[in-house]
Amino acid sequence: MVFEQIATGGCQSYLIGCDDTCAAALIDPELSQIDHYIALASRDGVRIRYLIDTHTHADHFSATKELARQLNVPVIMHRRSPAPFVDMRLADGEMVVLGKLRLRALHTPGHTADSMCLQVNDRVFTGDTLLIGGTGRTDLPSGDPEQLHDSLFNKLLKLDAALKVYPAHDYKGRSHSTIAEEIANNPRLQKRERSEFVEMMNTLNLTMPTHITEALRTNMSGGKTVAHLLAAATATVPFMSLGELKARVEAKEDDLIVLDVRERDAYEGGHVPGARLLPRGQLELRVNTELPDPTRRILACCELGYISTLAAATLREMGFAHAVALDGGMKAWRESGYPLTTGRDP
Ligand SMILES: [Fe+2]
Repeated sequence: MVFEQIATGGCQSYLIGCDDTCAAALIDPELSQIDHYIALASRDGVRIRYLIDTHTHADHFSATKELARQLNVPVIMHRRSPAPFVDMRLADGEMVVLGKLRLRALHTPGHTADSMCLQVNDRVFTGDTLLIGGTGRTDLPSGDPEQLHDSLFNKLLKLDAALKVYPAHDYKGRSHSTIAEEIANNPRLQKRERSEFVEMMNTLNLTMPTHITEALRTNMSGGKTVAHLLAAATATVPFMSLGELKARVEAKEDDLIVLDVRERDAYEGGHVPGARLLPRGQLELRVNTELPDPTRRILACCELGYISTLAAATLREMGFAHAVALDGGMKAWRESGYPLTTGRDP
Protein backbone atom coordinates (compact mmCIF):
# COMPACT_ATOMS: atom_id res chain seq x y z
CA MET A 1 0.00 0.00 0.00
CA VAL A 2 1.30 3.45 -0.91
CA PHE A 3 0.63 5.91 1.88
CA GLU A 4 1.53 9.56 2.38
CA GLN A 5 0.38 11.98 5.04
CA ILE A 6 0.65 15.63 4.09
CA ALA A 7 0.20 18.31 6.77
CA THR A 8 -0.82 21.88 5.95
CA GLY A 9 -0.76 23.73 9.24
CA GLY A 10 -3.12 21.60 11.33
CA CYS A 11 -4.92 20.06 8.33
CA GLN A 12 -4.00 16.53 7.34
CA SER A 13 -4.38 15.15 3.82
CA TYR A 14 -3.67 11.59 2.73
CA LEU A 15 -2.58 9.90 -0.46
CA ILE A 16 -3.40 6.22 -0.46
CA GLY A 17 -2.67 3.88 -3.33
CA CYS A 18 -2.61 0.28 -4.46
CA ASP A 19 0.89 -1.11 -5.17
CA ASP A 20 -0.36 -3.55 -7.77
CA THR A 21 -2.46 -1.27 -9.94
CA CYS A 22 -0.89 2.11 -9.08
CA ALA A 23 -4.38 3.59 -8.53
CA ALA A 24 -4.54 6.14 -5.72
CA ALA A 25 -7.03 8.33 -3.88
CA LEU A 26 -6.37 11.69 -2.31
CA ILE A 27 -8.28 12.39 0.89
CA ASP A 28 -9.05 15.92 2.15
CA PRO A 29 -6.66 17.81 -0.15
CA GLU A 30 -5.99 21.48 0.58
CA LEU A 31 -5.94 24.13 -2.15
CA SER A 32 -2.44 25.51 -1.53
CA GLN A 33 -0.82 22.05 -1.85
CA ILE A 34 -1.99 21.01 -5.31
CA ASP A 35 1.49 20.84 -6.83
CA HIS A 36 2.75 18.96 -3.76
CA TYR A 37 0.12 16.20 -4.10
CA ILE A 38 0.68 15.72 -7.80
CA ALA A 39 4.45 15.61 -7.31
CA LEU A 40 4.14 13.07 -4.46
CA ALA A 41 1.90 10.81 -6.54
CA SER A 42 4.45 10.92 -9.37
CA ARG A 43 7.32 10.21 -7.02
CA ASP A 44 5.45 7.24 -5.54
CA GLY A 45 4.51 5.90 -8.96
CA VAL A 46 0.74 6.14 -8.54
CA ARG A 47 -2.00 7.89 -10.43
CA ILE A 48 -4.66 9.82 -8.53
CA ARG A 49 -8.03 8.31 -9.53
CA TYR A 50 -10.31 9.78 -6.86
CA LEU A 51 -10.54 12.98 -4.82
CA ILE A 52 -12.35 12.55 -1.54
CA ASP A 53 -13.52 15.03 1.06
CA THR A 54 -14.54 13.43 4.35
CA HIS A 55 -16.96 16.33 4.93
CA THR A 56 -17.70 19.97 4.08
CA HIS A 57 -14.70 21.76 5.53
CA ALA A 58 -15.24 25.10 7.28
CA ASP A 59 -11.65 25.86 8.15
CA HIS A 60 -9.65 25.35 4.99
CA PHE A 61 -10.08 25.46 1.24
CA SER A 62 -10.67 22.09 -0.37
CA ALA A 63 -8.68 21.32 -3.52
CA THR A 64 -11.05 18.61 -4.77
CA LYS A 65 -12.85 20.68 -7.39
CA GLU A 66 -9.70 22.28 -8.81
CA LEU A 67 -7.83 18.94 -8.86
CA ALA A 68 -10.82 17.26 -10.50
CA ARG A 69 -10.60 19.83 -13.27
CA GLN A 70 -6.84 19.41 -13.67
CA LEU A 71 -6.76 15.60 -13.47
CA ASN A 72 -10.18 14.83 -14.93
CA VAL A 73 -11.09 12.44 -12.11
CA PRO A 74 -14.22 12.29 -9.92
CA VAL A 75 -14.86 14.01 -6.60
CA ILE A 76 -16.33 11.76 -3.91
CA MET A 77 -18.24 12.87 -0.82
CA HIS A 78 -21.05 11.55 1.33
CA ARG A 79 -24.50 11.78 -0.24
CA ARG A 80 -25.51 14.51 2.22
CA SER A 81 -22.83 16.86 0.85
CA PRO A 82 -24.37 20.13 -0.44
CA ALA A 83 -21.58 20.66 -3.02
CA PRO A 84 -22.98 20.56 -6.56
CA PHE A 85 -19.68 19.44 -8.14
CA VAL A 86 -19.54 16.05 -6.37
CA ASP A 87 -19.49 13.23 -8.95
CA MET A 88 -19.89 10.18 -6.71
CA ARG A 89 -22.00 10.36 -3.57
CA LEU A 90 -21.49 7.55 -1.06
CA ALA A 91 -24.00 6.17 1.38
CA ASP A 92 -23.18 4.39 4.61
CA GLY A 93 -21.47 1.04 4.02
CA GLU A 94 -20.65 1.65 0.36
CA MET A 95 -17.13 1.15 -0.93
CA VAL A 96 -14.78 2.76 -3.39
CA VAL A 97 -12.63 0.26 -5.29
CA LEU A 98 -9.04 1.37 -5.60
CA GLY A 99 -7.17 -1.38 -7.41
CA LYS A 100 -6.94 -4.11 -4.77
CA LEU A 101 -7.90 -1.77 -1.95
CA ARG A 102 -11.43 -1.17 -0.73
CA LEU A 103 -12.30 2.12 0.97
CA ARG A 104 -15.45 1.59 3.00
CA ALA A 105 -17.52 4.63 3.93
CA LEU A 106 -19.15 4.95 7.32
CA HIS A 107 -21.62 7.79 7.64
CA THR A 108 -20.70 9.53 10.89
CA PRO A 109 -22.75 12.75 11.14
CA GLY A 110 -22.20 15.09 14.06
CA HIS A 111 -19.33 17.41 13.18
CA THR A 112 -21.30 18.01 9.96
CA ALA A 113 -24.30 16.19 8.52
CA ASP A 114 -22.17 14.93 5.62
CA SER A 115 -19.25 13.60 7.68
CA MET A 116 -17.97 10.17 6.81
CA CYS A 117 -15.05 7.99 7.89
CA LEU A 118 -13.21 5.76 5.45
CA GLN A 119 -11.84 2.41 6.49
CA VAL A 120 -9.18 0.66 4.44
CA ASN A 121 -7.15 -2.34 5.61
CA ASP A 122 -5.61 -1.56 9.01
CA ARG A 123 -6.61 2.09 9.22
CA VAL A 124 -9.54 4.46 9.31
CA PHE A 125 -9.59 8.05 8.07
CA THR A 126 -11.79 9.71 10.63
CA GLY A 127 -12.19 13.19 9.12
CA ASP A 128 -13.21 15.53 11.93
CA THR A 129 -15.41 12.94 13.61
CA LEU A 130 -12.57 11.65 15.79
CA LEU A 131 -9.29 13.51 16.33
CA ILE A 132 -6.27 12.43 18.35
CA GLY A 133 -7.30 13.37 21.89
CA GLY A 134 -10.37 15.24 20.62
CA THR A 135 -13.42 15.23 18.40
CA GLY A 136 -14.67 17.60 15.74
CA ARG A 137 -16.71 20.52 17.04
CA THR A 138 -20.48 20.46 16.64
CA ASP A 139 -21.27 24.20 16.65
CA LEU A 140 -20.68 24.88 12.94
CA PRO A 141 -23.42 24.65 10.27
CA SER A 142 -25.12 21.20 10.25
CA GLY A 143 -23.23 20.12 13.40
CA ASP A 144 -25.17 18.09 15.97
CA PRO A 145 -23.71 16.79 19.27
CA GLU A 146 -26.35 14.05 19.66
CA GLN A 147 -25.49 12.67 16.25
CA LEU A 148 -21.79 12.87 17.03
CA HIS A 149 -22.37 10.84 20.18
CA ASP A 150 -24.19 8.21 18.13
CA SER A 151 -21.56 8.19 15.38
CA LEU A 152 -18.75 7.74 17.88
CA PHE A 153 -20.14 5.37 20.49
CA ASN A 154 -22.47 3.31 18.33
CA LYS A 155 -20.38 3.15 15.19
CA LEU A 156 -16.77 4.30 14.93
CA LEU A 157 -15.57 3.17 18.35
CA LYS A 158 -17.15 -0.25 17.78
CA LEU A 159 -14.74 -0.96 14.94
CA ASP A 160 -11.66 -3.13 15.56
CA ALA A 161 -9.80 -1.46 18.44
CA ALA A 162 -6.45 -2.05 16.71
CA LEU A 163 -7.38 0.12 13.71
CA LYS A 164 -5.07 3.08 13.21
CA VAL A 165 -6.81 6.46 13.39
CA TYR A 166 -5.81 9.09 10.82
CA PRO A 167 -7.77 12.32 11.44
CA ALA A 168 -8.30 15.34 9.17
CA HIS A 169 -6.64 17.58 11.76
CA ASP A 170 -3.87 17.47 14.25
CA TYR A 171 -2.32 20.61 15.64
CA LYS A 172 0.45 18.93 17.64
CA GLY A 173 2.36 17.17 14.87
CA ARG A 174 1.12 13.66 15.73
CA SER A 175 0.51 11.38 12.76
CA HIS A 176 -1.99 8.85 14.10
CA SER A 177 -3.24 6.84 17.06
CA THR A 178 -5.53 3.81 17.35
CA ILE A 179 -9.16 3.29 18.27
CA ALA A 180 -8.03 1.59 21.51
CA GLU A 181 -5.78 4.52 22.47
CA GLU A 182 -8.57 6.99 21.83
CA ILE A 183 -11.09 5.02 23.88
CA ALA A 184 -8.60 4.90 26.73
CA ASN A 185 -7.12 8.39 26.62
CA ASN A 186 -9.25 10.82 24.59
CA PRO A 187 -10.73 13.25 27.17
CA ARG A 188 -13.87 13.85 25.09
CA LEU A 189 -14.63 10.12 25.00
CA GLN A 190 -14.67 9.79 28.76
CA LYS A 191 -18.18 11.29 28.86
CA ARG A 192 -19.85 8.21 27.46
CA GLU A 193 -23.35 9.03 28.60
CA ARG A 194 -25.24 10.89 25.86
CA SER A 195 -26.55 13.86 27.86
CA GLU A 196 -23.17 14.47 29.49
CA PHE A 197 -21.43 14.31 26.13
CA VAL A 198 -23.94 16.74 24.57
CA GLU A 199 -23.61 19.11 27.51
CA MET A 200 -19.81 19.07 27.15
CA MET A 201 -19.97 19.71 23.39
CA ASN A 202 -22.46 22.55 23.86
CA THR A 203 -20.28 24.37 26.38
CA LEU A 204 -16.91 24.30 24.58
CA ASN A 205 -17.18 27.99 23.54
CA LEU A 206 -14.69 27.67 20.68
CA THR A 207 -13.71 30.64 18.57
CA MET A 208 -14.87 30.57 14.95
CA PRO A 209 -12.27 29.34 12.45
CA THR A 210 -10.62 32.09 10.41
CA HIS A 211 -11.94 32.30 6.84
CA ILE A 212 -15.07 30.31 7.80
CA THR A 213 -17.36 32.32 5.52
CA GLU A 214 -15.06 32.01 2.54
CA ALA A 215 -14.32 28.32 3.22
CA LEU A 216 -18.02 27.43 3.42
CA ARG A 217 -18.85 29.57 0.40
CA THR A 218 -16.21 27.97 -1.81
CA ASN A 219 -16.30 24.41 -0.46
CA MET A 220 -20.11 24.22 -0.68
CA SER A 221 -20.42 25.86 -4.08
CA GLY A 222 -17.18 25.08 -5.91
CA GLY A 223 -16.63 28.83 -6.28
CA LYS A 224 -13.18 30.37 -6.19
CA THR A 225 -11.37 31.81 -3.20
CA VAL A 226 -9.97 35.34 -3.39
CA ALA A 227 -6.43 33.92 -3.29
CA HIS A 228 -7.30 31.58 -6.15
CA LEU A 229 -8.68 34.45 -8.27
CA LEU A 230 -5.57 36.46 -7.56
CA ALA A 231 -3.23 33.56 -8.37
CA ALA A 232 -5.05 33.01 -11.67
CA ALA A 233 -4.66 36.72 -12.55
CA THR A 234 -1.01 36.77 -11.44
CA ALA A 235 -0.27 33.86 -13.78
CA THR A 236 -1.39 35.88 -16.82
CA VAL A 237 0.29 39.22 -16.12
CA PRO A 238 3.89 40.49 -16.31
CA PHE A 239 5.02 42.72 -13.45
CA MET A 240 7.27 45.76 -13.12
CA SER A 241 9.23 46.48 -9.94
CA LEU A 242 8.90 49.73 -7.99
CA GLY A 243 12.52 50.62 -8.76
CA GLU A 244 12.07 50.04 -12.49
CA LEU A 245 8.98 52.28 -12.54
CA LYS A 246 10.79 54.99 -10.57
CA ALA A 247 13.65 54.96 -13.08
CA ARG A 248 11.21 55.28 -15.96
CA VAL A 249 9.29 58.10 -14.26
CA GLU A 250 12.54 59.97 -13.59
CA ALA A 251 13.65 59.44 -17.19
CA LYS A 252 10.26 60.88 -18.21
CA GLU A 253 9.61 57.97 -20.55
CA ASP A 254 6.38 58.64 -22.31
CA ASP A 255 5.70 55.22 -23.87
CA LEU A 256 4.25 53.94 -20.60
CA ILE A 257 0.77 54.85 -19.34
CA VAL A 258 0.66 54.54 -15.55
CA LEU A 259 -2.94 53.78 -14.66
CA ASP A 260 -3.89 54.34 -11.04
CA VAL A 261 -6.95 52.17 -10.34
CA ARG A 262 -7.66 53.40 -6.80
CA GLU A 263 -10.55 55.77 -5.95
CA ARG A 264 -10.19 59.52 -6.58
CA ASP A 265 -9.47 60.56 -2.98
CA ALA A 266 -6.59 58.06 -2.70
CA TYR A 267 -5.24 59.19 -6.08
CA GLU A 268 -5.38 62.86 -5.15
CA GLY A 269 -3.67 62.10 -1.84
CA GLY A 270 -0.53 61.11 -3.73
CA HIS A 271 0.15 59.27 -6.99
CA VAL A 272 3.00 58.41 -9.31
CA PRO A 273 3.89 61.57 -11.30
CA GLY A 274 2.03 61.47 -14.60
CA ALA A 275 -0.29 58.62 -13.54
CA ARG A 276 -3.84 58.70 -14.86
CA LEU A 277 -6.85 57.92 -12.69
CA LEU A 278 -9.28 55.16 -13.72
CA PRO A 279 -10.85 53.47 -10.67
CA ARG A 280 -11.10 49.67 -10.87
CA GLY A 281 -14.86 49.87 -10.40
CA GLN A 282 -15.19 51.93 -13.62
CA LEU A 283 -12.52 50.17 -15.66
CA GLU A 284 -14.68 48.19 -18.07
CA LEU A 285 -17.15 51.04 -18.61
CA ARG A 286 -14.62 53.81 -19.26
CA VAL A 287 -11.79 51.90 -20.90
CA ASN A 288 -12.88 52.67 -24.47
CA THR A 289 -12.83 56.42 -23.95
CA GLU A 290 -9.84 56.56 -21.59
CA LEU A 291 -7.58 54.12 -23.42
CA PRO A 292 -8.46 54.19 -27.11
CA ASP A 293 -5.19 52.57 -28.25
CA PRO A 294 -4.96 48.89 -27.20
CA THR A 295 -1.35 48.66 -28.40
CA ARG A 296 -0.10 51.05 -25.68
CA ARG A 297 1.92 49.77 -22.77
CA ILE A 298 -0.17 50.24 -19.62
CA LEU A 299 1.01 49.76 -16.06
CA ALA A 300 -1.75 49.31 -13.47
CA CYS A 301 -1.08 50.35 -9.88
CA CYS A 302 -3.20 50.40 -6.72
CA GLU A 303 -2.63 50.68 -2.97
CA LEU A 304 -1.32 47.17 -2.22
CA GLY A 305 -0.74 45.53 -5.60
CA TYR A 306 -3.69 43.12 -5.58
CA ILE A 307 -6.44 45.09 -7.29
CA SER A 308 -3.94 46.31 -9.89
CA THR A 309 -3.11 42.68 -10.72
CA LEU A 310 -6.80 41.95 -11.30
CA ALA A 311 -7.11 45.17 -13.34
CA ALA A 312 -4.10 44.28 -15.53
CA ALA A 313 -5.52 40.77 -16.10
CA THR A 314 -8.87 42.32 -17.09
CA LEU A 315 -7.13 44.73 -19.47
CA ARG A 316 -5.24 41.85 -21.10
CA GLU A 317 -8.49 39.91 -21.45
CA MET A 318 -9.97 42.96 -23.16
CA GLY A 319 -7.16 43.04 -25.70
CA PHE A 320 -4.58 45.31 -24.08
CA ALA A 321 -1.77 42.86 -24.80
CA HIS A 322 0.87 45.07 -23.17
CA ALA A 323 -0.85 45.64 -19.83
CA VAL A 324 1.40 44.97 -16.84
CA ALA A 325 1.00 45.36 -13.08
CA LEU A 326 3.18 47.04 -10.48
CA ASP A 327 4.92 44.53 -8.19
CA GLY A 328 3.84 46.23 -4.98
CA GLY A 329 1.56 49.21 -4.56
CA MET A 330 1.41 52.87 -3.65
CA LYS A 331 1.87 52.04 0.03
CA ALA A 332 5.31 50.54 -0.72
CA TRP A 333 6.02 53.38 -3.19
CA ARG A 334 5.39 56.00 -0.47
CA GLU A 335 7.37 54.05 2.11
CA SER A 336 10.32 53.94 -0.30
CA GLY A 337 10.25 57.74 -0.49
CA TYR A 338 9.67 57.71 -4.24
CA PRO A 339 8.27 60.84 -5.97
CA LEU A 340 4.60 61.69 -5.55
CA THR A 341 2.23 64.18 -7.10
CA THR A 342 -0.81 65.27 -5.10
CA GLY A 343 -4.14 66.61 -6.34
CA ARG A 344 -5.36 66.29 -9.88
CA ASP A 345 -2.69 65.69 -12.48
CA PRO A 346 -2.47 68.49 -15.05
FE1 LIG B 1 -14.04 19.98 9.65
